[in-house]
Amino acid sequence: MVDHSFHPDKQAILNAVDLLLAKQIEPGNLSVIEQKLPEQGIGEQAVLNLLAPIVLGNAAKLGSETAFAHMDPPTPWITWMMHCWNASLNQNLLHPDVSPVAGDIESRVMQWLSPYFGMSGGHLTPGSTISNLTALWAARDLLGIKQVIASEVAHISIDKAAKVLGLELVRVPCNAAGQLDKEALPDDLTKAALVLTAGTTSAGAIDSLSLAGLAAWTHVDAAWAGPLRFSEKHAGLLEGVEHADSMAVSAHKWLFQPKESAVVMFRDVQSANEVLSVSGVYLSTPNVGLLGSHGATAVPLLATLLAWGRSGLAQRIDFAMEQAVSLVDFLKQQNNVEVFSDCVSGVVLWRSTICDSEDIFSNLPSGCASTTRVNNQLWIRHVSVNPNINIKRLQTSILTALENS
Ligand SMILES: Cc1ncc(COP(=O)(O)O)c(C=O)c1O
Repeated sequence: MVDHSFHPDKQAILNAVDLLLAKQIEPGNLSVIEQKLPEQGIGEQAVLNLLAPIVLGNAAKLGSETAFAHMDPPTPWITWMMHCWNASLNQNLLHPDVSPVAGDIESRVMQWLSPYFGMSGGHLTPGSTISNLTALWAARDLLGIKQVIASEVAHISIDKAAKVLGLELVRVPCNAAGQLDKEALPDDLTKAALVLTAGTTSAGAIDSLSLAGLAAWTHVDAAWAGPLRFSEKHAGLLEGVEHADSMAVSAHKWLFQPKESAVVMFRDVQSANEVLSVSGVYLSTPNVGLLGSHGATAVPLLATLLAWGRSGLAQRIDFAMEQAVSLVDFLKQQNNVEVFSDCVSGVVLWRSTICDSEDIFSNLPSGCASTTRVNNQLWIRHVSVNPNINIKRLQTSILTALENS
């Protein structure tokens, strides 16, 4: 007997695609789904009709004309199709025999990306949280690192990594631009891993990468701003990264990948892999890194890079930077508005000097801004990662919010 759950007819797949591409789907309520695991299934087509209003109808539209709030991009359609292929093939990179080509694809992607950062290789992870942990694991086990030094605004994943690895975390103050203050670094860095952030989460600041090499190990957390390296215009912002020992980049941010996709890279990947490898009796090759079973996340990334080439990626990053810069220029022209800094890496922070940021935020259309606290003040935050942004519409919304606050 053929189990049709595993052998779809083409029309069923096309129905799912039609729903995905529908311009508007009325939002549905999750309460229509039973509280208890249903005894009887309803079949795939009924599931599509049931879930489309709930999943598609309620989703935030990251590619809408005013989406400008977070580091989450809309994704190119080629990645949707590659995820579909991946889900259907279900390759597991833990076992080369069930991922005969996916492992080589990951190696090829790493071979493409690593040289831009002066790294010799690495692997994919589900996010920079895991990349940061993996890099600091290598630092600890290769060099006996005892301390992690990071700025006061470094991402919370650095706290998690230090905790998991049993390392002391020392937070160093920042200068007015939100960069790690070099003068505040401890004198003795011989047992320390220094974490420099390229694109801080709140303000997009880039720590001075000329500090790379000052400590026993330098890790650059470039979860956000790493892809600037692919832009001829902006690559210089990450000058010095090539002197780091390791780095993290989230592909599901400025490389426009669906979650969960990131990389960890090492200047000396061979040495790093030696301490990151664990063998098991059921494994034909050692397991490198933190993940056990994991999928072929490099396939959509490879497809995107093939579709766009470096120049196509750079064009999208440059466009995002231009939009952020033009927003900063616009904000600077407004009365009673303070902008945190010139745009460094596509993140824009501003506040009104006469009204409450909460009030302004509540008067902005949902999805166009987020808020963050920097220097004990609440700021409106925008992140430029949406190729469909209509900056004029966003400016109009900001003016209206200022008027109504
Ligand atoms: C600077 C920085 N590092 C690390 C992370 C964690 O990355 P991920 O969400 O990919 O785990 C983030 C997330 O926003 C970040 O901004």
